[in-house]
Amino acid sequence: MENKNLNNNKDNKKANKESKFEKKLKPVEEREVVFVDSHKFEDDGIKGFKARIKLQKQLTSKYSKQILSGDTVSTTGNKPDTDKYAIELYGVRKWYTNGDMVTPILKGIDLKIEKSKFIVILGPSGSGKTTLLNVISGLDKVSEGDVFSVGSNLTLLKDSHLTMFRRENVGFIFQQYNLLSNLTAKENAEVGENLSKKADNAMSIEEIFETIGMKEQMNKYPHQMSGGQQQRVSIARALAKNPAILFGDEPTGALDEEMGRKVLEILLEVKKRFNTTIIIVTHNPNIAEIGDTIIHVRNGLIDKMSNNPNPKKPSEIDWS
Ligand SMILES: Nc1ncnc2c1ncn2[C@@H]1O[C@H](COP(=O)(O)OP(=O)(O)OP(=O)(O)O)[C@@H](O)[C@H]1O
Ligand SMILES: [Mg+2]
Repeated sequence: MENKNLNNNKDNKKANKESKFEKKLKPVEEREVVFVDSHKFEDDGIKGFKARIKLQKQLTSKYSKQILSGDTVSTTGNKPDTDKYAIELYGVRKWYTNGDMVTPILKGIDLKIEKSKFIVILGPSGSGKTTLLNVISGLDKVSEGDVFSVGSNLTLLKDSHLTMFRRENVGFIFQQYNLLSNLTAKENAEVGENLSKKADNAMSIEEIFETIGMKEQMNKYPHQMSGGQQQRVSIARALAKNPAILFGDEPTGALDEEMGRKVLEILLEVKKRFNTTIIIVTHNPNIAEIGDTIIHVRNGLIDKMSNNPNPKKPSEIDWS
């Protein structure tokens, strides 16, 4: 009996601690900037890689909580400009290791992505687009360098804090829509809302469905909808948490021409209405023509970045 009470107490304490922790974001004027003197490693073999990972782990346990509270921690001497940019990358590299073999994937990336723009990441298969999207969205971590997203250095967040960061700040649309089959369109969208635990949500679910042109379909189940409609529900789910940034990896990849154009139109509408920064990956140069900015990725590097002064409308691009 006594033991059970003790356990309950423990659980309560744990829950309290977690909910307090989430409210720990400092007021803007109290936030600090910390420059970490992170020594340079010359060795690009397995030894150097292990030394980098070790240092990153140490810095992560030291600074992760502080980053989540709103402080800026930089290992490259760069301070992010959050008024102007949604995302900033400095000296970013990513490897995969297999035994003693190190395979470089991202090979040294510096990048600034302006807020409230439509960004298209373009490049051939295997060039590193998905890897890049995953590290800037906090789904995966880099091996070296700073990734500032909405001001937070994702490189030094531990996994549980990274999860909190994603819940609070970013939305995802995948090539496969990943809807829950036993929930209606509206209920699927509400899943996003509940996960983010945001009380002051700027958009109501009804407003979101109106924006995506799906108000009539809100009570349908996934199997009663076309692919394009399901993808729009997955956009609604991502929008339900009012994300600063909306990420999509080949969001029209599974759709036919008509539905693909429709989904792109919705994304442009979302940018216009809610000022959301939209970042999508595609291997299709035609789709890139609707972007404000195109990031060309080749062989793990940014080949070039170009701005479209007059982006095309989804109805104006070739499709194939
Ligand atoms: N877990 C992993 N382990 C080892 N190598 C990986 C891993 N994931 C990806 N890669 C390699 O990284 C490179 C970049 O992969 P990525 O998925 O980022 O390419 P992509 O540009 O998105 O290609 P696609 O257009 O085909 O989706 C590829 O050579 C891939 O084989
Ligand atoms: Mg990919």
